[in-house]
Amino acid sequence: MNSPVRIGLLGCGRIGSMHAELLARRVPDAALTAVHDLMGDSAARVAAAFGARRAASTAELIEADDVDAVAICSSTDTHIDLLMEVAAAGKPAFVEKPLSLDLAEVDRGIAAANAAGIDVQVGFNRRFDAAHRHVRDRVAAGDVGEVHLVRISSRDPDPPPLSYIEVSGGIFCDMTIHDFDMARFVTGSEAVEVYATGAVRVDPAIGEAGDLDTAVVVVTHANGAITTIDNSRRAVYGYDQRLEAFGSAGMAASDNPTSATARYWDTDGPHGRPLPYFFLDRYIPSYEAEWDAFVAMVRGAPSPVTLADGRAPLVMGLAAWASVREGRPVAVAEIG
Ligand SMILES: NC(=O)c1ccc[n+]([C@@H]2O[C@H](COP(=O)([O-])OP(=O)(O)OC[C@H]3O[C@@H](n4cnc5c(N)ncnc54)[C@H](O)[C@@H]3O)[C@@H](O)[C@H]2O)c1
Repeated sequence: MNSPVRIGLLGCGRIGSMHAELLARRVPDAALTAVHDLMGDSAARVAAAFGARRAASTAELIEADDVDAVAICSSTDTHIDLLMEVAAAGKPAFVEKPLSLDLAEVDRGIAAANAAGIDVQVGFNRRFDAAHRHVRDRVAAGDVGEVHLVRISSRDPDPPPLSYIEVSGGIFCDMTIHDFDMARFVTGSEAVEVYATGAVRVDPAIGEAGDLDTAVVVVTHANGAITTIDNSRRAVYGYDQRLEAFGSAGMAASDNPTSATARYWDTDGPHGRPLPYFFLDRYIPSYEAEWDAFVAMVRGAPSPVTLADGRAPLVMGLAAWASVREGRPVAVAEIG
């Protein structure tokens, strides 16, 4: 039997602390050995909660003998520098999305990882959601025939804090980026053109920060399929995540799970249970499956979400911003 893959985790914020818990408790073939965060308190809390060592620095964690692979879960603007350090140490890496908001930085990281020959998995967890994956598998098996349309609704229950919005890269590079990944994943085809529009319908402060909170994007793929994406930063009924692939032989769709299956009926009819509140409710099983796939990659399987898969949705996000600014469809090739 293989011994667990020993993982060191950088960044113990919102997503890093969730990953730490999964690695320590829910992924049988992984062990969380060390953590580090610039904020010592966060690292100390996560280390104590999940039985890991608190490393004194990123370098100490990356080079440690008890760290087989490194999970980069820190703020977006640190991902590429940390990936370069992990590449220099020759260890496999997990990198949260987005790789960066700067395409030149992404290319710098990809060049370093390729030169070092390390395996990297990017954190597009929705590929591991059982319902979304079923849609993609139906498409890949030819069950919907030739894909004509993909429709993605992706709506958050509430906007993140303004301090997050201001450094997030805006809705297209922070939020829609997951949907761009799903569009490529489900169709199995690259985007060639992006046409986006958006508005501020939820909170004027989001507009004052230079962002949008409501958006629609039309993506044209190389194989002729068209994906439409609609996003909102506030769905009052919960975290709304649905997708549909429609083609010449049928349709495959994924729906929202309810937070419980109980229902109640009265004179107004049936009343269901609410949707999961947010990604930490809806997507935990996908994050677990993401880590199972990471362990398999460290043990020799190909990366399930490559650096190229990390780069392409960023290009689509940048194209969406250009489209909104210029009021026209933007060819992906114009961006890079
Ligand atoms: N895949 C997903 O579903 C998902 C969900 C949320 C966030 N994310 C991504 O995860 C990343 C982190 O997001 P978050 O919401 O946890 O942010 P956060 O601000 O809560 O946490 C980021 C943490 O990184 C730490 N940090 C910054 N620089 C560091 C460095 N050089 N070394 C070590 N630690 C450092 C910060 O101190 C902070 O604790 C972002 O890139 C975000 O886009 C992905």
